[in-house]
This record gives sequence, structure tokens and C-alpha cells, in this order.
Amino acid sequence: MDKFIINGGNTLNGVIDVPCAKNSYLAILAGCVLSSGVVCLHNYPKFDDIDKMLDILVSLGCKVTREENRTLIIDCTNINNYVIPQKLAKKIRSSIFLLGPMLSRLKRVLVTYPGGCDIGSRPIDLHLKGLKSLNAKIVERFGFIEGEATNLIGENVHLDYPSVGATENIMMAAVLAKGTTKIFNSAKEPEIVDLQNFINSMGGKISGAGSDTITIVGVEKLGSVEYTPIADRIIAGTYLLAGAACGGDITIKNVDYEHIYSLITKLKNSGCIIDIKDDTIRQRTNGRLKSFGSIETLPYPGFPTDMQPQALILQAISNGTCIITENLFETRFKHVPELVKMGASIVTRDRMAIVTGVEKLYGADVTCYDLRAGAALTIAGMVAEGKTILNEVKNIDRGYEKLEEAFNLLGADIKRETK
Ligand code: UD1
Repeated sequence: MDKFIINGGNTLNGVIDVPCAKNSYLAILAGCVLSSGVVCLHNYPKFDDIDKMLDILVSLGCKVTREENRTLIIDCTNINNYVIPQKLAKKIRSSIFLLGPMLSRLKRVLVTYPGGCDIGSRPIDLHLKGLKSLNAKIVERFGFIEGEATNLIGENVHLDYPSVGATENIMMAAVLAKGTTKIFNSAKEPEIVDLQNFINSMGGKISGAGSDTITIVGVEKLGSVEYTPIADRIIAGTYLLAGAACGGDITIKNVDYEHIYSLITKLKNSGCIIDIKDDTIRQRTNGRLKSFGSIETLPYPGFPTDMQPQALILQAISNGTCIITENLFETRFKHVPELVKMGASIVTRDRMAIVTGVEKLYGADVTCYDLRAGAALTIAGMVAEGKTILNEVKNIDRGYEKLEEAFNLLGADIKRETK
């Protein structure tokens, strides 16, 4: 039951590195199941969700070694268990990403409906329809999903919506299937491109990731690989939004600016001075920023839903009014009542929030109910006058490694209280 005690009011200054992407790492860990060799992954980020995914791999019979230099060695040669333990699957959404690779490699899988952040209903119909198109037999009963695929066959699959998870699941199922699979209206997120590159470096034949059609030519087996996943664009955005909200001069390193250009454009228009050089972004502010005016969350390369809560905080103290439309997840405004306690002026209606910037926020006792809302409320506490107590910090630890230390390095004053 960790809490953050945040003393607000400090500007942020300095240089900070961005770790590897949670969402890339999770998909790639699921993809390890496809390999008949040994996978060596670098820059392992110590996020709780990654550790839970590693626990699942171990439960399936994979050998996982965490080396001191943040390298993971994953050996799935002896994978033998097709049942993903319910207790572990319930803890993370990405347990569902194992459906495709398990069917491809073991021909069988039994898993319960996944857990993860409570940000909406999060159906998995597109995952299941896609896998069925590839000749997998899927039965849903008593809260479990049972899959069998003695003969996976490549097929054309059209997704009704460019779902990240469904695209990844179908891609991974198709890797060891007979023949060619095409996924039309696939998700275009950078993490999908990363998964393609990872699989191809083990001997897979995937092309088109990053566009709306992905082609997977089935191969017999995948071998060993050494790989470093891409940087976390959502953490990069969290740092930039925190810097913009608190004011100051920060530089973030190890980031591909193209992955967050939807945010950079808005920050520049609101008055931030941004200089980009290679994989480094420097951001300076000069007084109170202008409101973004509007934010509409969309699949990549649109504005990411995972940055909406952090961006909302910045709008809450910017000059003007911002209309935020959350198109992806229907209950992703749970941080709003907490923020209103801190003095923000926000009205929500269904998937829309109307945010009128105020001059000041005030410290309060607040709770975060999901990962990105937790990062957002941490920023709110750093901006607010006085002391903020932020409860349920375990939600933040799912996708940030000691967020308080990262912000303190830049000049914030956050203490973690562990009970
Ligand atoms: C992934 C990310 C998550 C991010 C989201 C959208 C991981 C581990 N998580 O989640 O951080 O917020 O992409 O960028 O990579 N949908 C259906 N049916 C399905 C699947 C999805 O209707 O079978 C809908 C969802 O309800 C949602 C939309 O599609 O409205 C997007 O979801 P999706 O892209 O699948 O997100 P995730 O893969 O769960």
C-alpha cells in the first residue's frame, strides 16, 4: 500500500534517460514462446507488469535468467505447459498476447480472461476472430478460453478496428502457420514494428508493420536472438508533460521523436521551446502555457490514449479551455474527480472532458485507479501548492520504475511511504 508524499512547487531541470517500452517488452516476451532457441533481451525495465509476464513464462516451463546488467536470458526450449495459471493471467492484460504464440508453438492453450488497468470493458473479440480465421478452434466457457490449433493455416484477416493486441496476437499465431497471412487494417503502433523486427531477427518473415497491412509468411521454426526493444514513448511523453506543467528546462535522452510527434506539435503550439537532436529532446518553458484547445485520442499516429491523463493535467493549469475526447477507453477519466479535489475546473460527459485552466492547484489526499492516471496525479501533485498524498502507487509501478526517483532527479520533492 505504498503512497507518494509530494511537496509541490518545484520546477524541473536536468537530463533524464527514457527506458525501454513496456508495451514492446510485453509483446516481445510473449513472442519468446515462438523461439526454439535462446533469447537475450537488453535494457530490461523493472516494471511490475514485465515481472508478472516473466512469472507467466516461468510457469509455462521457460527458463528466465535476470543478469546484473539488465539483460534477460529467456530459454523456451522446454516449454511444456499449455495452461496459463489463472492467478497470474488475471494480473496483466498482456497475458492474452500469449494466445497466438502458444497456439503456434504448443498447438494448445488454456487461459482465463485477462486482467490489467480498469479503463473500460476491453473486449477480446477481434483477437479470437482473427485466430479462428487461421484455423484455430477456440471455445469460451466458464470464464476460460480454450484454444487448439493442430493445423494453423495462413489467411487474409480484416480487423474491424486496428487493435494493438489483436494485431500482435494474429501476427504471432501466423509466424509458424502454413502459408501466408495478411492482416488488413492492422494497428500501426511503433511497438508493432518492434515486434516484427524482433521476430524477423529470429528468422521470421514479416513485412509491412507500421502500415495498415501486415504480411506474415509462415516459417518452420525460429532460432536464437539478441535484441534491444525500443524506448518507451509514453514515458517520454510523461516526462515532457511534467516538464511543461512544472516549468523549467529538461532534456530527455534515448527517444525517437517521431513516436511522440503528436504530443510535440501540441507542446510547441502551447508555447514550449523544443529542440530535437538525434535521440535527444530538450524542452524549455517560459511562463504559463496556452491550452492545447482540443485533444482527441486515436490509434497511432494519432494522440495516444496512454498520454491523455497526463496531458489533461497540463490543460488543467494552462491558459484557456481544452476539449478532450477519449475515443479508445470509456472509463478513462477516473482521475478527474481527484483532480477536482485539487482545485481543477473540469466537466465530463461520457467520453468528453471540458477542462478550463486555473491559475493554481492545491495539494490534497488523492488516489490513482490506473497506471497513467497515477502518473498524471503525480504531476498534479508536483504542480500543486502544498502537500499531496497519492494513494495506490502500486498502479504506477506497473509501468514506471520508481517514478518518484526519476522526477526527484529533475528537482521534484516526492517521498514514497511504504506500509
Ligand atoms: C494496447 C496497450 C495499451 C494502449 C492500447 C491503445 C499493451 C500491453 N497495451 O492495449 O497501453 O492503451 O493498446 O493504444 O500494448 N477492442 C475491441 N476488441 C478487441 C480488442 C480491442 O473492441 O478484441 C477495442 C478496445 O476496447 C479499445 C480499442 O479496441 O477501444 C483499442 O484497444 P487495443 O488497441 O486492442 O488495446 P490493447 O492492445 O488492449
